[in-house]
Amino acid sequence: MEYTYLGSTGLEVSKLCLGTGLFGSGYRPTETWHGCMDDEEASIELVHRARELGINFIDTANQYSTGEAEEIVGKAISEYDRDEMVVQTKVWDKMFDGPNGSGLSRKHVLDQAAASRERLGTDYIDVYMAHAYDPNTPLRETLAAFDQLVSQGDVRYVGASNFDESQLMKALWIADREGYQPISSTEPEYSLIAREEEWNALRPCAREGIGVTPYSPLGKGLLAGAYDREEKPSESSRIGHRVDSQWDWLNTEENWAVFDVVQELAETKDVTPVQISIAWVLHKDVVDSVIIGPTTVDELEECVGAVDVSLSDDDMERLEAPVQPAYKGGWSEQ
Ligand SMILES: NC(=O)c1ccc[n+]([C@@H]2O[C@H](COP(=O)([O-])OP(=O)(O)OC[C@H]3O[C@@H](n4cnc5c(N)ncnc54)[C@H](OP(=O)(O)O)[C@@H]3O)[C@@H](O)[C@H]2O)c1
Repeated sequence: MEYTYLGSTGLEVSKLCLGTGLFGSGYRPTETWHGCMDDEEASIELVHRARELGINFIDTANQYSTGEAEEIVGKAISEYDRDEMVVQTKVWDKMFDGPNGSGLSRKHVLDQAAASRERLGTDYIDVYMAHAYDPNTPLRETLAAFDQLVSQGDVRYVGASNFDESQLMKALWIADREGYQPISSTEPEYSLIAREEEWNALRPCAREGIGVTPYSPLGKGLLAGAYDREEKPSESSRIGHRVDSQWDWLNTEENWAVFDVVQELAETKDVTPVQISIAWVLHKDVVDSVIIGPTTVDELEECVGAVDVSLSDDDMERLEAPVQPAYKGGWSEQ
């Protein structure tokens, strides 16, 4: 495994980060996710194998199976010295119905940080992230709450996932003006078939030294060959809980053209499409660590093989040729 610094911080993280979005039963107050692991022992085994393979970085969120994922991660990492692991978790999404059940208010942030630490069984969270922008809370209020958590020693670094370029710049500007802990990293969606952020959130990251830990490097499975272009996935599939909207987004000529190149290159290099797709993200200078989402040890080991895959400039150009990325608006504009 290779290690790198997270953005301009001194925090060392593995080039792959273990995602836990599919740990637990999949239950969320808004919808129940399909394709989740729902097997605590298997999830714990995945964390242990990741650690053996050199992964020291784990991504979770309070909302993943409504706290279950954090509890499973907590059980798994209780077997290590805490300083061996870098744990990133997030706040924003709905944890319960009714007032103050979601968002980035001071109340919700402070309550949920305490709840996350308890579920994770840890005194501190390494990287605490806003899961998305909250248009109903002044960003200054959120950043003040984050700063308080850092001052208390509950959190080491703060970050923002799914923020657009202007939201990231605003966060940096407020932190600078108020003397708050600045945003150290962001977690955008980024893959060969989701490249819009090249024209948005990734630009201030390159300029300002914000760390980048992209998610969904396999385009939710399409780049792994998990889907058949002739057939809409079933409701029991990984994207089954939102199959109509997700399939409309995934099932495009451009995306299948990308997958064709991925397959060709994988055959030439005697590796797998998964490894080519993750290697492409790893080859981007702006990226620090790629969040992978395996659900079995075999899938995990396949992902780890991507770290050794070398892509030439010509390979990168061929992979990028079918898609002309354009920014179409972020989460807060949808
Ligand atoms: N910040 C955010 O808003 C956000 C959003 C989404 C995800 N995330 C994070 O990013 C992580 C990864 O996201 P993702 O699951 O969407 O990633 P992904 O890598 O794009 O898709 C993973 C899916 O690809 C399929 N797959 C097939 N072969 C695989 C292999 N060898 N290794 C891994 N997957 C393989 C699996 O589908 P099957 O299970 O059907 O085989 C798996 O569910 C999550 O666990 C979470 O930590 C964050």
